[in-house]
Amino acid sequence: MEVIIVPDPAAGGELIADAMADLLRRKPDALLGVATGSTPLPVYEALAAKVRTRDADASRARICQLDEYVGLPCGHPESYRSVVLREVVEPLGLDEEAFMGPDGAAEDVAAACLAYDRALAEAGGVDLQLLGIGTDGHIGFNEPCSSLASRTRIKTLTEQTRRDNARFFDDLDEVPHHVITQGIGTILDARHLVLLATGEAKADAVAQAVEGPLCALVPASALQLHPHATVVVDEAAASRLK
Ligand code: F6R
Repeated sequence: MEVIIVPDPAAGGELIADAMADLLRRKPDALLGVATGSTPLPVYEALAAKVRTRDADASRARICQLDEYVGLPCGHPESYRSVVLREVVEPLGLDEEAFMGPDGAAEDVAAACLAYDRALAEAGGVDLQLLGIGTDGHIGFNEPCSSLASRTRIKTLTEQTRRDNARFFDDLDEVPHHVITQGIGTILDARHLVLLATGEAKADAVAQAVEGPLCALVPASALQLHPHATVVVDEAAASRLK
């Protein structure tokens, strides 16, 4: 695992956008796995800026989602489908056809999970998966004690994660209790994992993931199993690394 410490979130965004632009030069139709939440926004802004200035060509890129709330009505502005379309797909000038994600509004959620894992494999697998990290060490929405071999499935959010995500909703009661998330095993199938963590609130989770034992209590520690994992942290998030 490579750990890169950057001065601030914007520098992290720039560095990862550079890696994505390089990948797209080598493989123009690369499948980029994207996370939602606040942390990755500087990456998406930096990549879109490179596309505008023609320093990156994302015209054939494909985008896939890491996770999705269960039960939000179709088109809800905070569904992760809406967020990824708004923050990634549209700024890169891509069509919706370039984008895939799990169906959080499906009647048969278990079937939707299986279908998503299958679709990822049929698309050739994820080339670069961008990850954030929860304050409890989750990746995707694999909360502590998730199986390290898990595949895409429905998970219950912890109350801490619901509270962390309440800032995107008018009220804590509106935050769904369930999500579909790529499993840790699914995430580990990606060819390159890039985890970005910024801010003091992530410092403990980062230290445990990077320097602690491999452990289902800290799902992000599963990156230790991956042959090509890069952890990009700003100085605040790196502050508890030894
Ligand atoms: C969201 C996701 C989550 C977030 C994590 C950190 O798609 O996969 O694991 O990355 O909850 O969220 P932020 O970046 O908002 O602190």
